[in-house]
Amino acid sequence: MSVPILILKEGTEETKEKEARMQNINAIMAITETVRSTLGPKGMNKMLVDSLGDITITNDGAEILKNLDIENVAANMMVNIAKAIDDEIGDGTTSAVIFSAALLSNALELIEQDIHPKPITHGYKLANDKALAILKDIAEQISEEDDEVLKNIAKTAMNSKDVVGMKDFFADLALKAIKNISDKDGKTFTKVGNVKIVKAPGKSLHDSELINGVYVQKEKVSSSMPDKIKDAKIAVIRKKLDVVKTEFDAQIRIQSPADIQKFLDQEDKMLLDSLKIFKDLGVNMVVNSQDISDKFGAYLAREGIAAIKNLGDEDIKSVIKAVGANRVDDIKNLSQQDLGHAQLVKFEKLDKDEYTQFLGCKNPKSVTIVLKGGLDKILSTAEITLHDVLSVISKAMDTKSVVAGGGAVYLELAKRLKEYSNQISGKEQLAVSAFAVALEEIPKTLINNAGLDEIEKITELRAAHKSDADKWIGIDTINTSIGNNYTKGIVEPAALINHVIKSGTELANLILRVDRIISAKSSKPGID
Ligand SMILES: Nc1ncnc2c1ncn2[C@@H]1O[C@H](COP(=O)(O)OP(=O)(O)OP(=O)(O)O)[C@@H](O)[C@H]1O
Ligand SMILES: [Mg+2]
Repeated sequence: MSVPILILKEGTEETKEKEARMQNINAIMAITETVRSTLGPKGMNKMLVDSLGDITITNDGAEILKNLDIENVAANMMVNIAKAIDDEIGDGTTSAVIFSAALLSNALELIEQDIHPKPITHGYKLANDKALAILKDIAEQISEEDDEVLKNIAKTAMNSKDVVGMKDFFADLALKAIKNISDKDGKTFTKVGNVKIVKAPGKSLHDSELINGVYVQKEKVSSSMPDKIKDAKIAVIRKKLDVVKTEFDAQIRIQSPADIQKFLDQEDKMLLDSLKIFKDLGVNMVVNSQDISDKFGAYLAREGIAAIKNLGDEDIKSVIKAVGANRVDDIKNLSQQDLGHAQLVKFEKLDKDEYTQFLGCKNPKSVTIVLKGGLDKILSTAEITLHDVLSVISKAMDTKSVVAGGGAVYLELAKRLKEYSNQISGKEQLAVSAFAVALEEIPKTLINNAGLDEIEKITELRAAHKSDADKWIGIDTINTSIGNNYTKGIVEPAALINHVIKSGTELANLILRVDRIISAKSSKPGID
């Protein structure tokens, strides 16, 4: 009689093969349903209520997924993919989730026909590589001077966000901001992080403005320092401006009151030496990533020099880029070339916080958009939207490759992939076809969310993609019309579609390769 060998601890649950896949795929489908209805201009909003009762209303896929409290591991993987897309490209999270779920649901159908997951994942990988190659091939090339297209990219990203009446204004603001921080040869990558967004009180969002400089949430070291510094010569340093304390215990033998004075004078001398260096160079503003003592603050104030201290890394980087300074560790090495410049440095309270503003910087590589408006909620929504808009514009400027939205690009890719599947033999062919069908899920969802007839419109769209010249035919769900979306200005960076496809496929294949779920017995008290 054979004795059963126990490998897993008692209470461990094990789910195998088909059932394991079904469980994972069903969890992902369920999560997808929470964001599906938000896709596109006619998408709906979700009201998120957190455990404290705070309400956020949004249709941003990443924002919704971030706020779901999910236990299922597969569903959590999907949320993480969405977050990664949001970090990398700032837009397209909902699309990636919908596409990935469609790949999985189509795979499930194939599995039910007794096709092993291996040829399916292999077929999906082939289709993914082909789709990305086609995408590169059909995309339109633009230059960084193509302001019209770049603005349309911004407006397309805003079509699906609640910023009615602000699209043109925000598109202009965002484009100017990105142009200011990008190198003129357009070769270096534009970092969206170099555009700071600051929220300030004002009458309406239309009062928002682009500042050639940066705002740092810091107040001046001493109230007796000037409130404003015109024609600022700025030293950016990393040096504790305080009396240097010895690292070890030292005994100082003081034998007379004169010795005390000598000791204090010595301390003062170190500070006065630094002060002299600033004065000799004509520095009138000091920015320090370390501390400045009250005493030194008073010395600086007496000379009419303003200062801010203990700036974080991000703030220091922004200031350096805006004013064109070099950060110096040893003040003795500070020279004219290290100093930055701003037409005006101003200390001011905005809303509830104190800000130091570096204004009128020449050729700043870091700028600020000051969002103004009355209501907190409106400002926060505008901030999330502006982040998406800045991201898509910078991606388009860096990659200079754009495609038409409103489902056009997905329909064209689907069509070409179906043709490609004929060249593939075996079960992989079925997987490549299933991949093509999954791409159509984006236009189908856009149609459904607009309350239009899915079968009627998708058939019309497929039929319209006859020759290469029809590649940009898509649907405009704002005006409910089918036509060339590229000329209509519904455009997106090709890099965004590339990301949606790549991450969607990666997640689907990852899930399909799982054939066993082994869950340890819960160790939470009270749960068996
Ligand atoms: N006028 C329009 N008509 C039809 N579709 C449009 C129009 N404008 C934009 N779209 C499409 O809407 C889709 C984007 O919708 P949405 O912004 O809701 O989702 P996402 O970008 O995938 O995710 P998220 O913005 O939540 O990260 C894109 O496919 C885009 O082409
Ligand atoms: Mg979007």
